[in-house]
Amino acid sequence: MTCMRKSGVARVFVWAGLVVLGAVGCSQELDDPSLSGTIPFKPNRPTVPGTTTAAPYAGANASVREAQERLGTGLDLHARVIFRTCSPTGGVCHNAKEYPDLHTPANFIAAIDAPCNVQSGTWQGVYDRCERVGDRFRLGEGMGGDREIGYLVYLPGEFKPAANTSPGATTPGLHIYLADPLSAAKSDVNATGRFIRSFVNRSGLVEQLPFASFDARWWVLDGGKHVFAQVDAGRTTRVQDLLAVGIVQGDQNRNGVLGARANPPVPLLRPGHPEESYLIGRLRGRMFGGEIPGSRMPLANQPLSVPEMLALFCFVETLPPDRASVNLASPIDYAGCSYAAAPESLNLLGSGVTWVGRIKNILEFNCGGCHGGTEPQAGLDLKGGGVYARVLAMSSQRSELALIKARAPAESYLWLKISGDKSIRGARMPFNPLTGQGQLTDAELADIKAWIDAGAVENQ
Ligand code: HEC
Repeated sequence: MTCMRKSGVARVFVWAGLVVLGAVGCSQELDDPSLSGTIPFKPNRPTVPGTTTAAPYAGANASVREAQERLGTGLDLHARVIFRTCSPTGGVCHNAKEYPDLHTPANFIAAIDAPCNVQSGTWQGVYDRCERVGDRFRLGEGMGGDREIGYLVYLPGEFKPAANTSPGATTPGLHIYLADPLSAAKSDVNATGRFIRSFVNRSGLVEQLPFASFDARWWVLDGGKHVFAQVDAGRTTRVQDLLAVGIVQGDQNRNGVLGARANPPVPLLRPGHPEESYLIGRLRGRMFGGEIPGSRMPLANQPLSVPEMLALFCFVETLPPDRASVNLASPIDYAGCSYAAAPESLNLLGSGVTWVGRIKNILEFNCGGCHGGTEPQAGLDLKGGGVYARVLAMSSQRSELALIKARAPAESYLWLKISGDKSIRGARMPFNPLTGQGQLTDAELADIKAWIDAGAVENQ
């Protein structure tokens, strides 16, 4: 309490607030009468390890300025962009049940260098460059050694072969498609099929460990690239247990291309390389110059704006190579980010009022999450090839109206649905499952209307 005595008991009574300061700061400045009414305490917080102190962006681009202001740090990016796209309702969300879990900042950091498509909803949704090297399969002894597994398919039911019948691709039983043909001399054999995984042991040597097996009557088909196991009625649980051990398949999407071979697998976020980060690829629907499978993210939520895309790109571009030194509280270095030179190039929705350059993108990004895939909502598919022809078709809710009628927005049911016209059945689109409401931005609506007014043409 020496400090307090120094500053004078009377003043302590007058400035009641300073009682606290006297105890905390014990600052000489308390004696300075010019400080009357102010709080003479400047915290001297230690710098958080890993915090960068790069100079902020001082240029004039409005998108960069907005990004810097609203999305200054990795934490802001997570809270305002990543978390928003991951709505807390089941089904449209990445949470503990869905890979990758992006709910918390720590989970977001965990996405750095993490593999992609670890748990894809469907095998069709797997991207080739997310496929990891598969486990290997060996059939008995003297049946041609082991081969990498492309994929496995179990078709329930029982196969009872008559003499000389051979199973085919649709025969009930366990089918294993291999990357390279087995050079087995025989086909119809009773044998043990072994599943083998490569491990790197403590001395750095690769060891091949058989980790599962299946005894059955096996056929070798298609010149050795396809093996088939008969599964008796009593052994269906056994085959399900086998599939549950998580055999790694080198060609999960079954397209004949074993993904990550010549090129390393794509990670969710690759420090320094936003364009080679699968999470960003899923936002854009494209990567390495080609389309990537799976629904466009964020599903059923507004697509990221230009400043939001910029924040994500700059965050990833300036990430340190080592995950342990990432600090989300650190400012995103917009001044040092190459994408800050032309943020508009990150615009997901394009510009102008042409079908190809913009309208198609607005529909795909805002609507494709629900109006796409194998069971599009209301039977309307606004994603992928052939969308133009589909938007000229008749509405199912108001069968007397086309979805889009050139030069007649008022008779275009899709326009009525997105402009919230009173005559519509159901909800205004894009429907937001969280709020029950939703709408496109004024600029997007204006461009769609201008496109319809101008004749709703496709070829530009
Ligand atoms: C969250 C899911 C969701 C999103 C996002 C969504 N829709 Fe829908 N849409 C539905 C559902 C559900 C229906 C049927 C119920 C209804 O109309 O309210 C529907 C119906 C429609 C219909 C009626 C179909 C017909 O043939 O009459 C149109 C048109 C439509 N949506 C257009 C759009 C457009 C354009 C967008 C994007 C701007 C969009 N929707 C975004 C879920 C969605």
